Amino acid sequence: MSKRPIIIDTDPGIDDALAIAVALFSEELEVKLITTVAGNVSLEKVTNNALRLLAFFEKDIPVAAGASAPLIEELIDASNVHGVSGMEGFDFPEPKKSLLLKENAVNAMYRTIMESEEKVTLVPIAPLTNIALLFAMYPEVKERIQEIVMMGGSASRGNKGVMSEFNVATDPEAAKMVFASGVPLVMAGLDVGWKALVLPEDTAKLLELGEVGKMAHCLFKKYRGGSFNTGLKMYDSCAIAYLLCPQMFEVVDTYIDVELCGSMTKGCTLVDLKGYLKKAPNAKVCMDINQELFRKWFLEFIGQCK
Ligand code: BDR
Ligand code: CA
Repeated sequence: MSKRPIIIDTDPGIDDALAIAVALFSEELEVKLITTVAGNVSLEKVTNNALRLLAFFEKDIPVAAGASAPLIEELIDASNVHGVSGMEGFDFPEPKKSLLLKENAVNAMYRTIMESEEKVTLVPIAPLTNIALLFAMYPEVKERIQEIVMMGGSASRGNKGVMSEFNVATDPEAAKMVFASGVPLVMAGLDVGWKALVLPEDTAKLLELGEVGKMAHCLFKKYRGGSFNTGLKMYDSCAIAYLLCPQMFEVVDTYIDVELCGSMTKGCTLVDLKGYLKKAPNAKVCMDINQELFRKWFLEFIGQCK
C-alpha cells in the first residue's frame, strides 16, 4: 500500500512536536514537507524547532519557513504554554540547517503539491496564514489537495478568547479564507483537543517508551497545556490521529465560518450544527473522541518511534 502524502504546517510547539513524531514514524504517512508559521512563538524559533526535531528524529524532511506574522492581526504568541523557546524542557541536538529550503513555505507547498503524483493532504496544526496565502497565490493547487485535516477552532468555547481557539484566533482572516476555500476540510478542534489527554497514569509509562517517550516526558514538565496531575492536552496529535485512526472520532458534516467583526468574539468558529445560516456543509467537524482509544493509540505510537 502506498503511503499517504502529507504536508504538515506547524509552529512547534510542544504538542506539535509529538504530532510530528507520530507522523514521521508512521508507516501509513509520507511527510513530504514541513512548513512553519509564526504562532506558538516567532517564525525564527518555530523553524529552528522544526529543524531541531528533525535532527533528533534523524529524519531528512525538507522544511520551508512561511509567514512571520498573521495577515492582519498582531501576533500574540503562546510562550506562556510552550516556554520561551517554544519547546522548553529538553536538550535537543543542533538544528539540521541543511534541511531548510531557500524557497518560502507557500512556494514550497505549491511545488510539492504540483509535483506529487497523488493528491496531497494538508495538515495545518498552527495558524492558517500559510494555507490562506497558498490559496490566494495559487488557487490551482486546490484541485490537487485530497483534503485539509486541521487542528483548530471549536464548536464550544475557546482557549485564546472566551469563544475562540488559538490557531484560528491568531489569524482569523486566514482561517476564514481556508474554510471558504471549497477544499474538503476536517476540523479537529478543542472539542476533541481538550479530551485527547495523556493522563497521570500514562506519563510514567513514557519513560519506558524509548528516546521519544523520554523526550515527551521532559517537554511535558514545561508544558502548560494541562498538567501532570490533570492530564496533558495533545491538541495537534488529533489531526494525525484522524488520519491514522478516524474511528476514534465522532464526526458531523456542517457549515463553519469565522467571526471577524465581534469586538469580543473575533476568531470564533461558528459551527452551524443546526443549519441557522442555511449554507451547505463545508467541513467535517470532530465533535467527540474516544479517550481510551486515543490514550492507547498515542502511547503505542510513541513507543514505535525512535
Ligand atoms: C493549538 O494552539 C497551540 O498552542 C497548539 O500547538 C495547538 O496547535 C491549540 O489550541
Ligand atoms: Ca500547534
